[in-house]
Amino acid sequence: MKKILALMGSSRINKNTDILLDSMLKGAEDKGYEINKIYISKENISPCKGCNYCGIKGECVINDDMAKIYDYLDNSDIFILAAPLYFNTVNGMTKNLIDRCQRYWSVKYKLGGDYKRNHDRRGIFLAVGGAEYSHDQFSATIPTIDLFFKAINAKYIGNYFVSNTDNISVQERKDIKDEIYEIGYNIDEVENFYIHR
Ligand SMILES: Cc1cc2nc3c(=O)[nH]c(=O)nc-3n(C[C@H](O)[C@H](O)[C@H](O)COP(=O)(O)O)c2cc1C
Repeated sequence: MKKILALMGSSRINKNTDILLDSMLKGAEDKGYEINKIYISKENISPCKGCNYCGIKGECVINDDMAKIYDYLDNSDIFILAAPLYFNTVNGMTKNLIDRCQRYWSVKYKLGGDYKRNHDRRGIFLAVGGAEYSHDQFSATIPTIDLFFKAINAKYIGNYFVSNTDNISVQERKDIKDEIYEIGYNIDEVENFYIHR
């Protein structure tokens, strides 16, 4: 069975991002997938310092908890990144982890390596925003997530966005939890979805 790596990007455990992610993971778990969930806030992840070691060696020079996450990134098939919207994009803690994936960008775009190029890897992005719905609320996140999934050679399968979480918690929204459970259950079959609730 395929392996799922779930990255939980909010520092608030059991709040909106986490509940949304867990609803998706419950579906995947019921289908039998092996799941590894990382709470980014519990990991010691230093910021990328732009030293360009990875631009030459293809590896990161910093020795911290990213070593474990690189291992999961190397050995998983399906990636779910879940993050809250801060200042119109993913929060800094999530972006910090993405920046540390520069080593994959370097291998792919600079060093010409073939890291996981021909593997069937899939990426799904979940995000919540406290403000009421607006059509471009989440749009600044998409180019970043697109490049992140490209760098790790995962096909960007879909987005699931929830607005207005500062007024109505995801916990109270059974419709959303049911819908995302179904996507989780069918996580290896769903294609090109863009859902905004
Ligand atoms: C520093 C900060 C910036 C935020 N910026 C935005 C924003 O630009 N747009 C938005 O819709 N919500 C924004 N929010 C609200 C969060 O997206 C919202 O509270 C969300 O539910 C947080 O996710 P969590 O409940 O999983 O922690 C911001 C919250 C914080 C703390």
